[in-house]
Amino acid sequence: MADTTIKKRGEIKKIGVLTSGGDAPGMNAAVRAVTRAALAKNLQVVGIMHGYQGMINGDIKDFEWGDVSGILHQGGTILKTARSSEFRTEEGRKKAYKNLVKHNVDALVVIGGDGTFMGASIFSKEFDIPVVGIPGTIDNDMYGTDYTIGYDTAQNTVIDAVDKIKDTASSHGRIFFVEVMGREAGLLALSSGIACGAEAIIIPEADSGKADLENFLARGYMSKKTSGVVLVAEGDKAGGALKLAERVTKDHPDLDVRVSILGHMQRGGTPTAFDRIAASQMGVASVEALLDDQKSVMIGLVNNKITHVPFNKTVKENRPINNDLLEIQKVLNLW
Ligand code: F6P
Repeated sequence: MADTTIKKRGEIKKIGVLTSGGDAPGMNAAVRAVTRAALAKNLQVVGIMHGYQGMINGDIKDFEWGDVSGILHQGGTILKTARSSEFRTEEGRKKAYKNLVKHNVDALVVIGGDGTFMGASIFSKEFDIPVVGIPGTIDNDMYGTDYTIGYDTAQNTVIDAVDKIKDTASSHGRIFFVEVMGREAGLLALSSGIACGAEAIIIPEADSGKADLENFLARGYMSKKTSGVVLVAEGDKAGGALKLAERVTKDHPDLDVRVSILGHMQRGGTPTAFDRIAASQMGVASVEALLDDQKSVMIGLVNNKITHVPFNKTVKENRPINNDLLEIQKVLNLW
């Protein structure tokens, strides 16, 4: 266990901010908001580079107002990011803690997803240091928040790509299977699929997409449609767009089938207005939460209101799929 040279809660003078896990558009807006909200409260701020790995390596920089200028609209993260395997070890976390003590850091704001908060939860308990999390992932798979930073921008990236694919699909009379990111979660595929009028949306949380696909292949495509787009969540049990397309081609050799895997382009780009505003709200709220003696909580946005969700809840519980969206997709694809 730690020596607790770190100051008691309520005496926060310096906070550290880091981004960890997959980058997401809007993370910079969150870093800016955390930094400026803290400086406005007369706290000192350090930026920790490369996520938890930077904490272990002592890659820590003093941040002033100007250090976060001109980044609000930029994708990626100026703090860089990493998935640190060393931080999963007790030894690694001890090194990280020593560096925080060396830099007089009293509290942390960590921006990331599931893995980030799991690490934060353990670290906060081991060393009795206040940590607050901001959900940043394009997957929007965190329990306890309607939105994670980056999701809205990623949706728009998917829509933009699929709109273009639809032009070529319709010109050639083809069926495209488009694979969307999201790890084990299907929400990014589901919401984007509705927004671009996909004929079927295949996600791990529901079987209705497969029924829509069968229906489309059996009736829609043959009778009315000459082309189509099927969105496939990368985490679907069917094994992704390639496998699904292979199966469909085998069963329907007459169809002209193509596959498009959107990949990491979904993680890049200028954040939308929604992501910038959500990141700013959550960034300010994270500093307020720390000053309010909150510890081991994720900042959430539920019905546009800021909430505080304990880490142990948000990492243990799965976010349920939005049934209203599933229902809408069903209604809009009744042939
Ligand atoms: O969590 C964000 C995410 O983009 C997932 O949608 C995807 O499965 C994963 O990260 C990809 O990770 P990596 O960038 O390490 O390949």
